[in-house]
Amino acid sequence: MKFFVDTAELDQIKELHDLGMVDGVTTNPSLIAKSGRDILEVTKEICDLVKGPVSAEVVALDADTMLAEGRKLAKIADNIAVKVPLTWAGLQTCKTLSDEGIMVNVTLCFSANQALLAAKAGATFISPFIGRLDDINLDGLELIEDIRTIYDNYGFKTQILAASIRTANHMSDCAKIGADVATAPPAVIKAMANHILTDKGLAGFMADVEKAGIKIL
Ligand code: E4P
Repeated sequence: MKFFVDTAELDQIKELHDLGMVDGVTTNPSLIAKSGRDILEVTKEICDLVKGPVSAEVVALDADTMLAEGRKLAKIADNIAVKVPLTWAGLQTCKTLSDEGIMVNVTLCFSANQALLAAKAGATFISPFIGRLDDINLDGLELIEDIRTIYDNYGFKTQILAASIRTANHMSDCAKIGADVATAPPAVIKAMANHILTDKGLAGFMADVEKAGIKIL
């Protein structure tokens, strides 16, 4: 499973990127607003750092303006994936941009039917939001499973990009189900390293290091 990092904070992307943990980046208007940066400038800087797909989202609601925005974003770098919402206008934009050879990430997906439409429109990525479904007591992981089944039934090439990931367990759950990509905030990726038994085991080893005066350097 590929790891994308869900942030527009360059220092946080760089830290994970230097460890080989970043296969791509996703941003959205809320993350850009949080960064306080100009969308075109910060997106360019992310693309200069990361070789894999960098999702940058359109902000228009109608297809003509979305298309113009998408073409402008795609000119930033070859690894831009234009992010469009899962609306009819977003699907129209997806089809045109995909036909032009531009990667498209269709976002705000909450149903298997929406994912089926995105695949038909040639999306490179579909982004089902599992955390936001869990927030309203629906099953986000079940949606990933359903999309996996549908895409595999018909050989759709659209990659399932599990989004709105809130916990480290979401990451391993998505990997078990067969999501192609999971995008998570840096803190969630770092939290994957934590285990209470690791902490406990290390504390025991350190006590023995102290007791025996073990030194290596
Ligand atoms: C990524 O593409 C999404 O925009 C992001 O994962 C949304 O996450 P949230 O539901 O925590 O805002």
